[in-house]
Amino acid sequence: MELLIKNGQLILEDQIITADLRISKGKIIQIEPDLSRMENEIQIDAKSAYVIPAGIDPHVHLKLITPAGFSADDFESGSKAAIAGGTTTFIDFVTPEKGEKLTDALQKRLEEVKNCACDYAFHMSIVEWRDSIPQEMEACVQSFGISSFKTYLAYRKSIGIDFETLEKVMQTAKKLGVVVTIHAELGNTIDELREDSIQKGHIGLENHSLTRPDYTEYEAIEKVIGLVEKTQCTTYIVHVSTSKSLDLIAEAKNKNLPIFAETCPQYFSFNNEVYKGLEEEALAYLMSPPIRSESNRLGICKHLEKGTITALGTDHCPFKLEQKKGKIFTEIPNGAQGIQHRLSVLYSQFVINKRISLIDFAKLTASNPATFFRINNKGKIAIGYDADLIIWKEEKKPIAQIHEYSKGDLNIYKTLTSFGRADYVIKNGIILYDQEKLADYLPNGNYLFRN
Ligand code: URP
Ligand code: ZN
Repeated sequence: MELLIKNGQLILEDQIITADLRISKGKIIQIEPDLSRMENEIQIDAKSAYVIPAGIDPHVHLKLITPAGFSADDFESGSKAAIAGGTTTFIDFVTPEKGEKLTDALQKRLEEVKNCACDYAFHMSIVEWRDSIPQEMEACVQSFGISSFKTYLAYRKSIGIDFETLEKVMQTAKKLGVVVTIHAELGNTIDELREDSIQKGHIGLENHSLTRPDYTEYEAIEKVIGLVEKTQCTTYIVHVSTSKSLDLIAEAKNKNLPIFAETCPQYFSFNNEVYKGLEEEALAYLMSPPIRSESNRLGICKHLEKGTITALGTDHCPFKLEQKKGKIFTEIPNGAQGIQHRLSVLYSQFVINKRISLIDFAKLTASNPATFFRINNKGKIAIGYDADLIIWKEEKKPIAQIHEYSKGDLNIYKTLTSFGRADYVIKNGIILYDQEKLADYLPNGNYLFRN
């Protein structure tokens, strides 16, 4: 498809310009003040709209197997929800079984991707140590373009690892020149608090957050910073949820340590009052780490404004109410829905009121995840880059009135109002979403080899 986008305000890497943009064979080929339409081109008028790099979500869990069944979205529904919100690329995870070779787990995961309309990559999770892990990690990097490895310090009874194992993973990653991402919560402490809570008969959902107090995150991050100092491994902390954690990360960054932070919209949109309502409502917000206090929420906003945060992920991992209800708190599957609303929630809380610029918006949602996770040729509006673009309009609408493409039935954002939305979503020069409607045919996205 050959496209000409006229009169848009283009959000470039370091400036905003009003110009026309020409797309050919899936790439951006021309950016100039006044381009004339050629015969074979479809023209879109983007007057009074922004043209923004399409979103890259660095943290999603589609078709995640849990004891409560699969998470509600597979690659088809998850990618449709992503596109409707302006995201055309995401990074999901491979989580090997214990004893399973990393590349075998990756092959299996690749077979689970069906009808995925977004481009996608995977973070490879390291769930245990064995002598062959360094060679297996190298094979992932060389043969599959995996440039990031995920570790969990939480969930010690299943996929979580200890700090000694983490150090080995970081040393190996440093040698391979790749990145380690960390779910930083003190797993052992949390397990003790959970057991104690159950012993006392405290089994309601409110105990999920009570047994994951703030310090279980920031003390884990404090220890991780020590390991970053020791190994010099480039390290990315996923879904940071407390203000103190970000204070520590900002301090470490000031010392030039290679540490980076992600947060998710749920942590700056809500406070822990969400756990006090009806059980059926509160369950939607049951996730790890949990939604924190108002002072944490404000701290995250402050750090977002001052640039401590590198990327905004969603940790999209929805479950149906049916899967979450009627369980003691330790058995409720963790995770929430969000892949469709990441851009509009950030825009509505930070751009519309000028707390961050549109350039920072594009960095947080697209260009930083692209650069950091080596997604080449995406995340920027520049000649030669993939034509993955959004035409973005300001419009006020309650999120509850927006059509949801996720198969989850617990939309945590339904009480909020959106002040901006993707009007057109274009991937590799193809229009996938056009004025609140997905295209009838969505071509399959590509696996992204990252190097
Ligand atoms: O509660 C969460 N975050 N669920 C998804 C899995 C994970 O821990 O990232
Ligand atoms: Zn996650």
